[in-house]
Amino acid sequence: MIANFVLNILTISVIVTRSEVSNTHDDEIDKLLKKINKPFLKSIKIPDGDVIDCVHMKNHSIYDHHLFKNHTIQMQPSYVPEESKNESTNTKNQSMLSQLWTINGKCPKNSIPIRRTTKEDILRRRSVDVYGKTNPNDNPKFHEYAIIKVDGKFHGAKADINVWKPYIQTPKEFSLAQMWVAAGPDSELNSIEVGWQAYPDLYADENPRIFTFWTADGYKSGCYNLDCPGFVPINNAFFVGATINHFSTYDGRQYHISTLIWKDPHTGNWWLKLNGNIVVGYWPSILFKHLNTGATEIQWGGEVINFNDGSKHTTTKMGSGHFAEEGFKRASYFRNLVVLDEDDKIKRPERGSSYMTKESCYNVRSGYDVIYGLNFFYGGPGRNHNCL
Ligand SMILES: *[C@@H]1O[C@H](CO)[C@@H](O)[C@H](O)[C@H]1NC(C)=O
Ligand SMILES: *[C@@H]1O[C@H](CO)[C@@H](O)[C@H](O)[C@H]1NC(C)=O
Ligand SMILES: *[C@@H]1O[C@H](CO)[C@@H](O)[C@H](O)[C@H]1NC(C)=O
Ligand SMILES: *[C@@H]1O[C@H](CO)[C@@H](O)[C@H](O)[C@H]1NC(C)=O
Repeated sequence: MIANFVLNILTISVIVTRSEVSNTHDDEIDKLLKKINKPFLKSIKIPDGDVIDCVHMKNHSIYDHHLFKNHTIQMQPSYVPEESKNESTNTKNQSMLSQLWTINGKCPKNSIPIRRTTKEDILRRRSVDVYGKTNPNDNPKFHEYAIIKVDGKFHGAKADINVWKPYIQTPKEFSLAQMWVAAGPDSELNSIEVGWQAYPDLYADENPRIFTFWTADGYKSGCYNLDCPGFVPINNAFFVGATINHFSTYDGRQYHISTLIWKDPHTGNWWLKLNGNIVVGYWPSILFKHLNTGATEIQWGGEVINFNDGSKHTTTKMGSGHFAEEGFKRASYFRNLVVLDEDDKIKRPERGSSYMTKESCYNVRSGYDVIYGLNFFYGGPGRNHNCL
């Protein structure tokens, strides 16, 4: 069943060159861009090349979705779980998420920053037809995992996710580290996912970026960030898809992002908070069926796409690119894994089960200690003498 845990949107990306796209296509792309990019109050160019548009809440892209016609945006959670003091002691290793672009001013009140989609983004992401939709040709066999999971009944989950900048062999492959909050049978799986990913075809560079993903139908549809209406950002100083300014180095300084997802007890919306103080936004309860009675599975770990180019295993790295056995400062970690139970109380699970698609390529080793609770190291180099 886990093999079906596939982020299958836009993952097989045939690079379409400009010359292959006819003029009619150009018109279609323009139309699509007009639809995706909302009228903005202000726009800000940021150092990594992205352009941020500040879009008024009234023109929020969720209103493109029929489900949201009557949706009133929830501007703040009605309840925020008490996070333990244990994390606050680690804040010095939290990767900076206060984003560079805010130097040039935040978005005005009642507006949210949205990364502007360009023509190049669309061309890079294959074709107008599949843009924003899942790709039926995608194949779960391309996805590899090294994860830890727990089963039960949950109202949320949390982890500190170590950040690295892994090598990506080809732009159509990705490497990510994330948390899954899921419920429902495979064919109609509801899944909320958040973490960092390096995915050149999606972002035009290899930087690790904060991303969100959701599906409500077992990956037949769903999408990253704001690529389709669903996730509702409410923060005027933070946007999903943003580059992470600091990442870890081998034997050097370690950075992580503290990631919390929880279900609002009053509205049923699933909220996202990063680094203990950045409330990013929420996934509205109306998107889901199964998650509305709580999550039944939480997973944490790494995933890569292996396209097996030239019939050889990819050299795309997972995590730091080093196996779990190398430990702190060398392998990538997840720690302080906690879940929210049905009473919205934070609990430390004592153990989880591991799942690896190809242990000789990428692996995971979990442990438990007093300070970091349930934690694990994971990752790997991909192709090596045991992984061909
Ligand atoms: C919302 O978008 C419309 C155009 O579709 C524009 O005329 C209007 O000014 C925008 N509203 C705000 C508050 O930005
Ligand atoms: C929105 O509200 C109208 C009027 O109350 C109602 O007829 C319609 O069904 C609602 N639409 C949705 C998607 O809930
Ligand atoms: C923070 O990073 C430094 C340098 O890598 C490391 O020595 C220290 O153990 C880290 N602290 C935590 C709590 O991870
Ligand atoms: C915090 O750390 C202490 C040990 O330093 C541990 O006993 C306690 O269970 C931790 N609490 C949580 C909620 O992680």
